[in-house]
Amino acid sequence: MRLTIPHLTKKVTLMHRNHRVLSGDYDTYTHGFRKIRVIHHPTHIPVGVVLTGKDLDVQSLNYWLFWRGIPDYRVDVERLKRRFSIDDAKDLLEMEYALSVSDNYWLMPENEDLHYHRLNFFDRPFDQEGFAKAMFRIDHYNPPETAMHTPNNTLCGYHRKAWMKKGESLYLLKGSTGFHQQECINEWLASEMALRLGMKAVAYDVRIYEHQLVSACENFLNKHTDLVTAENVLKTVKTSKKEFWIDLFLDTLENHGISDASDRLDEQIVLDYLMMNTDRHLQNHGILTDAETNEWIAMAPIFDTGTGLGCFVKTPELADYENHRTCKFLNARHFSHEDLLTLCGNVQRFDFSVLQDMPQVFADKMVRYQSQTGIPNERIEALCALLARRISRIQNYQLNAANGGL
Ligand SMILES: Nc1ncnc2c1ncn2[C@@H]1O[C@H](COP(=O)(O)OP(=O)(O)OP(=O)(O)O)[C@@H](O)[C@H]1O
Ligand SMILES: [Mg+2]
Repeated sequence: MRLTIPHLTKKVTLMHRNHRVLSGDYDTYTHGFRKIRVIHHPTHIPVGVVLTGKDLDVQSLNYWLFWRGIPDYRVDVERLKRRFSIDDAKDLLEMEYALSVSDNYWLMPENEDLHYHRLNFFDRPFDQEGFAKAMFRIDHYNPPETAMHTPNNTLCGYHRKAWMKKGESLYLLKGSTGFHQQECINEWLASEMALRLGMKAVAYDVRIYEHQLVSACENFLNKHTDLVTAENVLKTVKTSKKEFWIDLFLDTLENHGISDASDRLDEQIVLDYLMMNTDRHLQNHGILTDAETNEWIAMAPIFDTGTGLGCFVKTPELADYENHRTCKFLNARHFSHEDLLTLCGNVQRFDFSVLQDMPQVFADKMVRYQSQTGIPNERIEALCALLARRISRIQNYQLNAANGGL
């Protein structure tokens, strides 16, 4: 007997702002295209989606679409699904025309006459509290239907998060997972150090939302720019699993006119070293592209540096945490942060003396939120000591390098 799957196929057009990119048959059950019928504007095909001659690789298009949605490994996704009475978080994907505020792509159903300038969430109000409470609230909450019509449906990542609007600006609230909610404070710490060191990085703040610690940062994209992940950048070139992709990544960016790629990547390396970041995977960095022309503009500012400084390890383990090989960078895994630092092309340009009081500033911040996090004094001390060691290690490394010791 033939199994019947309840496919609901619609004819839709993938749009980029007001540009028609391609039209085809879209399956609302699998949340992907089944067949592409026409390519209208090849220049606007998302970076990373493979087009060979006139043949578009539908699988790569669906992979790109899939990663715009809420992943099923998101913290508390089961609770969110129950609150919205949906079986799969991906069911939200095309709920509001698949509009996002991390890029300017969307899906227009056939026979609808819609215009991006009226539709986009950079300008249009939405029910921010409805979604944010459905994502974060611990007590019982029954969201209104409007809560599903937000740009949060096309927001990826592991941590709980929600877009909020304040005046003209969009802010992302992001929660923690760790026992001590350390990730949020880490996000602020990393951005504070980055900004002091003169790096191009997103500024994060710590706030309380729904009685929980969250980090808050402003949207670094707008109606004119898109974020393209490093993963999608690397899909435009031939990669080999046997090689480390750093040179290929830099060459690809430079070939597209991003001339300061090496300096920007150095900043990421130095910050990841200081933070002992364990999560710089291929979607945690990328580039900005022009949403009107699809040209590559610059490397994206550093974001998502919260998963570090031993946020998932118990306090006694922090004493020798640096001896573990916990670094992740591009396609490399399980190597030491010392090895990461050797990839930095020019460590001499950083003035680490600006970080002198950072361990104390970090301690003050943790003490300030101690009543929410419950983080004990002993851990605060251990974390500050760890940060102080990171700063002094990188200063020594810089000194050795200057003296020709490396
Ligand atoms: N400030 C921002 N402006 C615009 N888009 C953003 C911003 N911060 C995050 N995003 C978008 O949200 C996605 C998820 O954010 P982020 O990486 O901070 O979350 P996460 O849950 O910590 O991720 P991970 O799964 O790597 O742990 C990013 O990949 C990016 O697409
Ligand atoms: Mg991330």
